[in-house]
Amino acid sequence: MSHILSAVAWPYANGPRHIGHVAGFGVPSDVFSRYMRMAGHDVLMVSGTDEHGTPILVAADEEGVSARELADRNNRLIVEDLVALGLSYDLFTRTTAGNHYAVVQDMFRTVRDNGYMIQQVTRSAISPSTGRTLPDRYIEGTCPICGNDAARGDQCDACGNQLDPTDLISPRSRINGETPEFVESTHWFLDLPALAQALGAWLDEREQSGTWRPNVIRFSQNLLEDIRPRAMTRDIDWGIPVPGWEDQPSKRLYVWFDAVIGYLSASIEWARRSGDPEAWRAWWNDPQALSYYFMGKDNIVFHSQIWPAELLGHNGQGSRGGEPGAMGVLGLPTEVVSSEFLTMEGKKFSSSHGIVIYVRDFLSRYQADALRYFISAAGPETADADFTWAEFVRRTNGELVAGWGNLVNRTATMIHKRFGAVPAPGQREDIDQALLDSIEEGFSVVGGLIAQHRQKAALAEAMRLVGEANKYIADTEPFKLKGEEGSSAWLRLSTVLHTLAQAVADLNLMLSPFLPHAANEVDRVMGGAGRIAPMPRIEQVDELDAEVLPEAFAGRTGYPVITGDYTTAPTWGRHEVAVGTPVGKPSPVFVKLDEAVVEEELARYAALVPDAPTQP
Ligand code: MF3
Ligand code: ZN
Repeated sequence: MSHILSAVAWPYANGPRHIGHVAGFGVPSDVFSRYMRMAGHDVLMVSGTDEHGTPILVAADEEGVSARELADRNNRLIVEDLVALGLSYDLFTRTTAGNHYAVVQDMFRTVRDNGYMIQQVTRSAISPSTGRTLPDRYIEGTCPICGNDAARGDQCDACGNQLDPTDLISPRSRINGETPEFVESTHWFLDLPALAQALGAWLDEREQSGTWRPNVIRFSQNLLEDIRPRAMTRDIDWGIPVPGWEDQPSKRLYVWFDAVIGYLSASIEWARRSGDPEAWRAWWNDPQALSYYFMGKDNIVFHSQIWPAELLGHNGQGSRGGEPGAMGVLGLPTEVVSSEFLTMEGKKFSSSHGIVIYVRDFLSRYQADALRYFISAAGPETADADFTWAEFVRRTNGELVAGWGNLVNRTATMIHKRFGAVPAPGQREDIDQALLDSIEEGFSVVGGLIAQHRQKAALAEAMRLVGEANKYIADTEPFKLKGEEGSSAWLRLSTVLHTLAQAVADLNLMLSPFLPHAANEVDRVMGGAGRIAPMPRIEQVDELDAEVLPEAFAGRTGYPVITGDYTTAPTWGRHEVAVGTPVGKPSPVFVKLDEAVVEEELARYAALVPDAPTQP
């Protein structure tokens, strides 16, 4: 039994999330966490909405509302979407929670006092026409490293390097195209060079473990080659106040400095709310604890460099030494699990260009588990992947409905019609035992693959076993076994249907990390209570530390969080089905999609995007 921190990237609250986002961080982290709990580990799965930074400010400006109003609204929408997807967070909170402010400021002070924050004067961009600071992300120009002419002031998406706005060649404002003016400003910089050796040693040790995806470890190690101090404060009035700079409200901590600390602050918030305020330490102070960070690839640098550097600085483990603060020595990530990008009909998702399917719209028309299935089976696990409606319909109908759904439906129908309850098996033949043996073996194969973050292969193996069970029906032909109670045909039928009931129960459990909603329905169809896969719920909680929040939050008393009790999930492995369990007439678990869905959805999309593909 290990303590496992499942650290899930914090979605920006600048708008609702689309399916590309949840393919990157959401579904993979949930599959992993659900499996690890069933495998007997003590999992703490945390995240929240990322509510600071310029994307929120800009979106709020566009709508003419305050940043707080915009963040409040999107926080609630995102919470609802993630719950609808069945993502089993122990705590999904937000970066505007008072507890988060307090932990971030504590972290900042410790890193600074240990000597890993240095002051430097920088040139920061302002818009000549408005006089307002121009955020890094909103400056565009040519990348000095690779020559990409659409690099942003914080990062170049073409070569993946972090940039400062002053690095850009021919900088221009993305808001109105004007050339920014640079003025001098003092900021706190994280002294990455003083932490570089410790970072390198940690990455080498992680490489030795052999578990990281090769491109992620290589990318992270390459980052060390050009390492320099990074500004951790910004000229912006929306963000966490900088300790010691309380008299400078136009300077705030950099959004990424605070957001990554969310993994720690959310663990602390979870512990405080659980009634044992020190409980978080089992995941953070124990060197045996494991931590897995789930995200899309544009987040790697923040998780394999900035966050570990903050932790090392806090622990006093860089070249300047130092002492950990009251939080003690904090563990660095065990693994940065990054996925690649999902495109849609061959194009990059872009909310501003209408190339987008919001989670909410998707779930208003299709089943959550159909989306989860697509993402797990065909998502961007180790290479970019494309979402197409044709492929979505094909996978849903061909694999979920005709494969798994059909197995469940035929099994339940035959048991219901012929016995009304799971029959007692007679003497098993080789073919019966062979099916049960391969499925039992499947638990260790599928579990092992999920533990290695090879979810595509894991799901493929579970679905291969579904195929074996369907073939078993074709081979044993139970529908032809007719005869009086006690006859040999009747005895054979009992054995075959008992074998199938066991196979369905096993496969349902094996698929439950991927398809939790369906797992509960299948369980119900087979006469169970429908509680195989515990579900998250939304809870309205009171603000814990209102006093540390700035003026902008006056009057806030609480917020919605996602939480749940997931300890009731069954253990991973075979649970014998109980003979005599009543099985009623089943209704289908998965909705078969009309082929017309493809054209309907493409037409919907074409209405928004003039040059969208119209043919499947
Ligand atoms: N908000 C960021 C994004 O959507 C992710 C933040 S992850 C965290 O890309 F580490 F900061 F929490
Ligand atoms: Zn570049």
